[in-house]
Amino acid sequence: TILYGVFGDPIRHSRSPIMLNRAFEEAEMNSAYAAFHVKPEELGEAIRGLRALGFRGVNVTIPHKVDVMNYMDEIDEGARIVGAVNTVVNENGRLIGYNTDGIGYVRSLKEETGIDLRGQKVLVLGAGGAARGVAYALAKEGAGTIYIANRTKERAVELAATISAFTTTIAVGMDELEGVVDEVAFVLNTTSAGMHPHVEDVPMPVALLRPQHLVSDLIYNPRITRFLREAEAIGARIHGGLGMFIYQGAYAFEYWTGKPAPVEAMRQVVEQSLA
Ligand code: ATR
Repeated sequence: TILYGVFGDPIRHSRSPIMLNRAFEEAEMNSAYAAFHVKPEELGEAIRGLRALGFRGVNVTIPHKVDVMNYMDEIDEGARIVGAVNTVVNENGRLIGYNTDGIGYVRSLKEETGIDLRGQKVLVLGAGGAARGVAYALAKEGAGTIYIANRTKERAVELAATISAFTTTIAVGMDELEGVVDEVAFVLNTTSAGMHPHVEDVPMPVALLRPQHLVSDLIYNPRITRFLREAEAIGARIHGGLGMFIYQGAYAFEYWTGKPAPVEAMRQVVEQSLA
C-alpha cells in the first residue's frame, strides 16, 4: 500500500481523506490517505515520520503551509513565490514542495465557467495568504491587469509588487473601488468576509457590481456566500469556492501518481459529504 496523508491543526473536518481515497479507488490504485493532527511544534517530527515510513506524499494545511517549507529539499518556483507549500512529494527521500491552491483555483474557474483570462482585467479582493496564491496563478494564466484591493491597503501594495514580475498589477484601497469595478470583467473574493460564522459580511459594496461581471468567491462554507447571492441577484454570473478544493487535490494526486485525477468522482464524494 502506498501511503499518503494530510497534516493540519485542526484537522477533524478535513474532506481531503474521503476525496483522495475516492480518487485512489477510482484509479484502482492500492493506496491509503489519512488525516494527522499535527501541532505546530510537532511538524518537524511529523516530516521525519513520513520519511521514515516511506510516505509517497502529504498535503499540509493550516497552520503549516509556511513552516513546512523549512523541511523541504526542493521547492517548486510557484510555491517559492507564493511563500507557502500545500503538497509534498517524496522522491525516494527527497522532499519536494509544491503549492496547488492557486493553480487548482484557476483550473476550477476555467473548467466551471469557461472564462478565458488572457488579457482580461481582473479585481482580486484581499491580500492575505489565499490572495497570494491565486493572484500568482491568475498572472501566470495571462490575466492582463490585476487590481488588488485590500482593507489594509499596505498589504495590497506589497502583494501587487510581488506579482508585478508576472503581469501588470495595481493596488487599491477598498474605498477606491468605484471606477475600478467598471473596468474589470472578473471579481474574486479571497478575504474571509462571508465565511462561516461571519456569513452576513461582504468584502465590498455589492451595488458596484454589474450584470456583465463574473463574480467568484474562494469560500465554500457556506457554498454560496452572501456576496455571490447578491451578485447573482444583480444579474452577474457566479462561481463558488468548492472547485478550488477539488482541483488543488486533483493536482496533488497528479503530482504524486503521474496520472490524470478522476475529478468527477472526487467532486461527487465531496458534495455528498457536505450535503
Ligand atoms: P488567508 O490566508 O485566508 O488569506 P489572511 O492572510 O489572514 O488569511 O488574510 C485575510 C484577508 O481577508 C485579508 O486580506 C484581510 O484584510 P486585512 O489585510 O485588511 O486584514 C481580509 N479580511 C478579513 N476580514 C475582512 C472583512 N470583514 N472585510 C474585508 N476584508 C477582510
